Amino acid sequence: MLFSLLAAVQAQSLFNADGLFYQCNPSTIFAPNTTEQVQAVIQQAIANGTTVKAYAAGHSRNNVMCTDGVTLLTTNLNQLISVDKEKQTVTVGGGMKLLDFSNAILEYGFIMPGVPDYGGITVAGAIGTGAHGSSLKHSSSTHDYLVAAKIVTGTGDIVDIDETDLDFPAVRVNLGALGILTEVTMKVLPVQKIKTQNIEIDFNNATLNLPEIIAQYDFAGCYYFPYNKRAVLTTSNFVDASTPGNGHKTSWDMPPVPLAVQAWAIPKVLDTVNGLLSEDEVCPLANLRADQLKSGETSEAVGNFGPMYMGNLFHDIANVVNVELNIPISKLADAYQDIIKIVNDVKTCFPIYGIYTRFATPGKTFMGPNAISEPIAHLEIHILNSFNIPYLGFAAIAEIRQLLNEKYNAEPHYGKNWGSDFTQLNTKLGNRADLFAKAVQRFDPNGLFTNKFLQNLQSNAARLDTKQCAFTQDCYCEVDSDCSAGYSCVQGHIFTPARVCRKSFGTFCERGDECASNRCVLYHCI
Ligand SMILES: Cc1cc2nc3c(=O)[nH]c(=O)nc-3n(C[C@H](O)[C@H](O)[C@H](O)COP(=O)(O)OP(=O)(O)OC[C@H]3O[C@@H](n4cnc5c(N)ncnc54)[C@H](O)[C@@H]3O)c2cc1C
Ligand SMILES: *[C@@H]1O[C@H](CO)[C@@H](O)[C@H](O)[C@H]1NC(C)=O
Ligand SMILES: *[C@@H]1O[C@H](CO)[C@@H](O)[C@H](O)[C@H]1NC(C)=O
Ligand SMILES: *[C@@H]1O[C@H](CO)[C@@H](O)[C@H](O)[C@H]1NC(C)=O
Repeated sequence: MLFSLLAAVQAQSLFNADGLFYQCNPSTIFAPNTTEQVQAVIQQAIANGTTVKAYAAGHSRNNVMCTDGVTLLTTNLNQLISVDKEKQTVTVGGGMKLLDFSNAILEYGFIMPGVPDYGGITVAGAIGTGAHGSSLKHSSSTHDYLVAAKIVTGTGDIVDIDETDLDFPAVRVNLGALGILTEVTMKVLPVQKIKTQNIEIDFNNATLNLPEIIAQYDFAGCYYFPYNKRAVLTTSNFVDASTPGNGHKTSWDMPPVPLAVQAWAIPKVLDTVNGLLSEDEVCPLANLRADQLKSGETSEAVGNFGPMYMGNLFHDIANVVNVELNIPISKLADAYQDIIKIVNDVKTCFPIYGIYTRFATPGKTFMGPNAISEPIAHLEIHILNSFNIPYLGFAAIAEIRQLLNEKYNAEPHYGKNWGSDFTQLNTKLGNRADLFAKAVQRFDPNGLFTNKFLQNLQSNAARLDTKQCAFTQDCYCEVDSDCSAGYSCVQGHIFTPARVCRKSFGTFCERGDECASNRCVLYHCI
């Protein structure tokens, strides 16, 4: 019974937790239709002495798009403005959604393969945080395709900027800090279709040669299940535009369960899994997820790039936490070996969704993990969060985060991570942070677009000192009171510099790793 319920959770739980984690609380909301109307709002805000922030689809999982001042919705800045067939560029309103963008340019015989897995976010929103897909053959981040933009700056000026400007890399992955991008011009490519196939590969190969394997495909990512010793690739190759097939991605399609039921049931089921099942009883779920992935996620093998690569979201309901940490590709094999040790230590089949590993080639940006000179690996963990108690693998995930941040110098995803993943980031980025700050100073000298997210970044100390901050993900624990009641702040088992919240072994438990036996059933160690 529990397992059949959980199968439904699996189908939905990658959805955005919009509103569950970061709800922005602006004082005023405007939804301008034109660049001139954006300028009028900015001029008023300057006169009023309030801050402004662009809010697009609001699908970032942190507060990068929030302000206490004026929220400027980009919903109406969603027109196709011009197509330059010769230069192969397309200019659209910054608020156009990526799936709409893909469909619009298809009519002109173009594609833009720098997209994430989900098409409900906007072109400028994706650019803002460095959203990406996965490829070692092609640029796969949206910002890599940005070649020009129209920006309303913090002084209320309308500025056209293109790749010839030395500050242009700051416009790519701009964190909303430079101004409002009312128009963006994207480099596009002549149309091709893609043929997709999901395949399971040898786990040891994935550990050692994954980049080599990924590089054989036009687009590929890997769901890596360290405890289950499985690795499933999602692959796509370009095929000629005349190839028959009109497939679309199905993994985000509406399941046949009423929304009200899902909204009630999912948190219940998640708390139940976290509290009642032992970790080995959760292992079948991770296997089920791998099997689902292997059986494919598209309605047909061949289709147009946009609908094949990007799903369309029906609703934001499930409570999912995302962590994405990005490292140089040359460090991936070592990082995997360390992660395997941590996972084996707690004998936990987590993450149930695997470690979603994607790749990117270098791009010309200051912020954003593909700013470095070698290709990078994006390591992402989707966590099924529960509402009342720490989620499955809680301590181990905290240990993995600190391992990647501290030993592998990881850079976080600017639209997904939160709290401690941003600590000391300025120091890590070095010159890149300085170049970005210089561009921000030029476009927004008075800090009109600053917000808590940017202030945390600048202060280099993103620890938010709330009670039980390690439970709410805002810090890594330093003292016991950073953890939830009954937990102590102790060092990591494998990566010992890490500080994680654990319950000491006893009779009562919420998860297996709190028991000497590693088995927790009905809140009792058995
Ligand atoms: C279901 C789901 C799947 C996802 N899949 C992926 C994935 O596969 N890969 C990936 O990398 N990410 C993924 N993400 C994360 C997502 O790509 C980012 O959070 C993205 O930035 C959200 O875009 P948005 O349009 O909602 O922008 P928002 O979250 O509203 O804003 C993001 C930032 O951009 C700024 N901004 C937005 N529009 C403008 C503008 N016109 N001018 C100036 N600044 C602007 C905002 O101020 C803010 O700083 C996913 C998110 C969800 C919910
Ligand atoms: C924007 O356009 C919509 C629809 O045409 C209209 O209702 C709205 O008043 C316009 N907003 C502004 C600020 O002009
Ligand atoms: C500026 O203040 C005026 C008067 O309080 C208010 O009507 C207007 O909405 C404000 N505009 C912005 C952009 O803050
Ligand atoms: C492992 O990788 C090598 C080299 O990339 C490849 O030749 C071999 O077929 C792979 N084996 C499996 C089982 O995938």
